[in-house]
Amino acid sequence: MPPRPPAPSTLADLRAVVGVAGALDAPADLAPYVEDFRGLYHGSTPLVLLPSSVEDVARILAICDRDRVAVVPQGGNTSYCGGATPAEHGAEIVIAMRRMNRIRAVDPANDSMIVEAGCTLAAAQDAARAAGRLFPLSLGSEGSAQIGGNLSTNAGGTAVLRYGMMRDLTLGLEVVLADGRVLRALQPLRKDNTGYDWKSLFIGAEGTLGVITAAALKLFALPADTATALAGVPSPAAALELLLRLREHFGEAVSSFELLPRRAVELTVRHVDGVANPLADDSSPWFVLIEIGASRAIADPTTRLGEALASAAEAATVAGAVLATSAAQAQAFWRLRESVPEAQRRHGASLKHDLAVPVSAVPRLIELGTALVERSVPDGETIAYGHVGDGNLHFNVSQRPGTDRATFLARQAPLQAAMFDLVASLGGSFSAEHGIGRLKVEELERRTDPVELELMRTLKRALDPQGIMNPGKVLR
Ligand code: MLT
Ligand code: ZN
Repeated sequence: MPPRPPAPSTLADLRAVVGVAGALDAPADLAPYVEDFRGLYHGSTPLVLLPSSVEDVARILAICDRDRVAVVPQGGNTSYCGGATPAEHGAEIVIAMRRMNRIRAVDPANDSMIVEAGCTLAAAQDAARAAGRLFPLSLGSEGSAQIGGNLSTNAGGTAVLRYGMMRDLTLGLEVVLADGRVLRALQPLRKDNTGYDWKSLFIGAEGTLGVITAAALKLFALPADTATALAGVPSPAAALELLLRLREHFGEAVSSFELLPRRAVELTVRHVDGVANPLADDSSPWFVLIEIGASRAIADPTTRLGEALASAAEAATVAGAVLATSAAQAQAFWRLRESVPEAQRRHGASLKHDLAVPVSAVPRLIELGTALVERSVPDGETIAYGHVGDGNLHFNVSQRPGTDRATFLARQAPLQAAMFDLVASLGGSFSAEHGIGRLKVEELERRTDPVELELMRTLKRALDPQGIMNPGKVLR
């Protein structure tokens, strides 16, 4: 039986917390909050709350706990797994964090900053840069994705190779628990061995254990100089060989290493305005986008990257390569990479798989996964791309033009099961960086070790005994 909608008195109490400016209930105002970014889920809610302080969030959750009303925390609403969309039954309240967007403190000498959850990733990066420091998390949706969502999904992106994922970048958290109590642990300490690391629990929990309202984040030195190149390579194995060579040359300074199949580049040039392929004459089946973020110790990294690519070409690891000679050109290379999901969306429906395997197993995953798609999805084509330096591929399948959308989409379940079996046989993960959300709840149940699953359920029961925090996401 679906839960009952919140009582009018509960809704009135919730509205009173945030005032007129912080409560949305007109259907047109609710619309952007009830559908996920990919259009997979069409939910419903009677009320979207826009708190502007941690006290607001605490009072909201205390009321929801008292009256057993479920809440869905939402950031920039860019989840690929429906993690921030309310259920269809319309009994869940959405808490959208965008008004909690202050940068509370930046401490360049401690290499840290304290940022509220509703701050966009781009605004956090800008605040760090304004203080002469780098906040390195970087992803295509950074203009709209928010820090709270980045934390709740343990976001990855294109600089994980050097700086790690969101969990690695976090020193402290402020969290409102399901009953409205506030956990305040924003001390930006690099050493603090005082008991369990509870902060880690909330990172990647997708709002199922509490609402993250602020975080203390790590900052880094800005690179003194950046070298960016796009190189054509004969195979994924050659791409990995190239990565090893670059690490021998540049060590830690290799900050991004992204693999793109030729087809992804073609689709992006075709569907996204202003994107060009700087290696249009290169017939390589694969490309890699390379970024070196060099300290002053590496003089003229662009020349040195050119030398490294030339020596790789002699060993037939690289076909052609083009080095960015200006910041604008480097940006154009990145635009090509970051527009791939958009190009896929415009091209037609897609079946997405966010997979991780040991880096050494990436060529095998591509080979076996592509064969699987060829066998079982006649109306689709493989577009496998992404963070190859992290062993993370977006193994996506695009619908071929002129085929039937519903028939194509119906292949998702069997293909996904086979793809996840393949990844398991290679010692990998079926969710590398996009999370579980609503999309992969059953898979998590099916594929997670029973002891691990029971531990997760125990934590969920302990922290959210009434089950009001983002129900139906991560765990059922
Ligand atoms: C990306 O890296 O572009 C996104 O995480 C991926 C996707 O579209 O699957
Ligand atoms: Zn990605």
